[in-house]
Amino acid sequence: MNSDVQIAGDPLALPHLMPPPAAHPATVAEFAGLARTLAADTAGWAPLVRYDAVSRWYHRLRTGPGYEVWLLSWVPGQSSGTHDHGPSSGVLTVLRGELTEHSAGSRRTLHAGAQRIFAPGYAHDVVNDSLEPAVSLHVYFPGLTEMPMHRVQHLRRAVHPDGAATLR
Ligand SMILES: [Fe+2]
Repeated sequence: MNSDVQIAGDPLALPHLMPPPAAHPATVAEFAGLARTLAADTAGWAPLVRYDAVSRWYHRLRTGPGYEVWLLSWVPGQSSGTHDHGPSSGVLTVLRGELTEHSAGSRRTLHAGAQRIFAPGYAHDVVNDSLEPAVSLHVYFPGLTEMPMHRVQHLRRAVHPDGAATLR
């Protein structure tokens, strides 16, 4: 006997012993995977997107037990304002364009395909400071019940060409 397969047998040869595939995600990795699967289905989300110059546009794309998925659009200059997500965790995935995320002490440029995963209480400000519209996908678990806005705007930092940063 040289391997587990020789000792225990090949589990793939006994499909009735395999756990059934989960109908819904239950772990952070599975929620991130769901987001990637939905992101890859461009034909499923692209026709739904609207761009609204007055306010950010959003559409609930899917719900499941304990989670929901939102599609958002951002025209240049639109931002979320600094907020957290109450008791919800989440996965943010950029589908099209580019978004900038400001969180405590950091500034990240998120290109199409980028993902951010956050826990309850995580605060950020997301802005489209590019010259093109952007689209993003947001998975919240549990579903988003509150999005408290933060009065402090110190998370957004201006970065000068010389690399220095100032708070604004
Ligand atoms: Fe957020």
